[in-house]
Amino acid sequence: MQTRAAILWEPHTDWSVEDIELDDPKAGEVKVKLAAAGLCHSDEHLRTGDMRLDPEVAKLMGWEQFPIIGGHEGAGEVVEVGPGVTTLKEGDHVVLSFIPACGRCPSCARGRQHLCDLGAVLLGGRQISDMTARHRTKNGRDLGLMCLLGTFAPYTVVNEASCVKIDDGIPLDRAALVGCGVTTGWGAAVNAADVRPGETVVVIGLGGIGMNAVQGAAMAGAQHVIAVDPIDWKRERAAIFGATHTAASIEEAAALVAELTWGANADKAILTTGVATGDLIAPMMGMVAKGGRGVVTAVAPISQEDVKLNLFDLAMQRKELVGCIFGNANPRRDIPRLLRLYTDGRLKLDELVTNTYTLDEVNQGYRDLLDGKNLRGLITY
Ligand SMILES: NC(=O)c1ccc[n+]([C@@H]2O[C@H](COP(=O)([O-])OP(=O)(O)OC[C@H]3O[C@@H](n4cnc5c(N)ncnc54)[C@H](O)[C@@H]3O)[C@@H](O)[C@H]2O)c1
Ligand SMILES: [Zn+2]
Ligand SMILES: [Zn+2]
Repeated sequence: MQTRAAILWEPHTDWSVEDIELDDPKAGEVKVKLAAAGLCHSDEHLRTGDMRLDPEVAKLMGWEQFPIIGGHEGAGEVVEVGPGVTTLKEGDHVVLSFIPACGRCPSCARGRQHLCDLGAVLLGGRQISDMTARHRTKNGRDLGLMCLLGTFAPYTVVNEASCVKIDDGIPLDRAALVGCGVTTGWGAAVNAADVRPGETVVVIGLGGIGMNAVQGAAMAGAQHVIAVDPIDWKRERAAIFGATHTAASIEEAAALVAELTWGANADKAILTTGVATGDLIAPMMGMVAKGGRGVVTAVAPISQEDVKLNLFDLAMQRKELVGCIFGNANPRRDIPRLLRLYTDGRLKLDELVTNTYTLDEVNQGYRDLLDGKNLRGLITY
């Protein structure tokens, strides 16, 4: 069929919305009619080159990373199933999980679906089944898919391993947010930071990821949730998601945390800034208490290796510095779990959507993200 998609031809260019050819789903694949796609900062990392794979490495694996269809947060309806698909049928509503979960690899088997082996080709974006493309330009050139999804298009073809079936009654334009941002942020607090009742938690950066880390920390019973962002209106909005205090910078937060805890410092700190840079780690770990934990959720440029960190404190104060992908979640368990909390009025999704866009407005959506105008921008189809 013919459809449209926002394509990134190479880093440092804008998204180009073009007509494309979409093949029928092959074995183990489904065609999904998307209802909405979230504008996560990770697609912006693709645009800035932060997520550019070494072209030689991609070539060794048999594909090129660019051109690529963007978008890895989305939900929609299954409109066609390929041969051998047993877990989904036409008409099913699905959230697209930005990491597939096969359920059988060693990571899936030990309850770490966020590390599923199928995630190995996440940034290359050919179909998992046979490493070929279902998406093509009008001139017949193969297109990659961000996170094997490509949600910046009204239709896509994905593997059933990327689909999590949800109840028909859940609005798809809210469910979409759980495909990355909500699960990533909430899980960064609940799973990766392992926030416990009564703890003091600092969240640095209040975008779609950070606001959900705030609501995860609050839901896990933190006493103090300090929400940090230079943008005034985001700090004001943080209270809705459970923040008890705010600060405009890490330095301001450090002083506040010291005062609130009588010098004991924060049990947990979570980094959810737009870009993870090496200079943010020392100040973050500086406000973590002895025995406490710092969680890096924000994405750094792919070759970033320099980090400032006080190694004496790390060992002598038994601090932990940990990475976190997809909120260390199990999408097949956690996506339905989070949506049940939404249905019960306990998890906030409506409040996350600041602006909605058409597919043609995708570049405006990312300008708004960079200008600090969005908690989450959403493309609706
Ligand atoms: N680890 C994962 O699995 C995963 C998944 C999704 C997104 N991410 C990453 O998480 C990060 C956040 O994504 P997002 O969509 O929420 O981005 P966003 O751009 O919507 O939000 C980032 C926020 O950080 C704030 N900020 C920037 N510098 C700051 C600083 N020094 N101190 C305090 N606040 C600061 C900005 O004002 C903004 O509000 C990105 O790097 C994204 O790629 C990681
Ligand atoms: Zn994302
Ligand atoms: Zn797996």
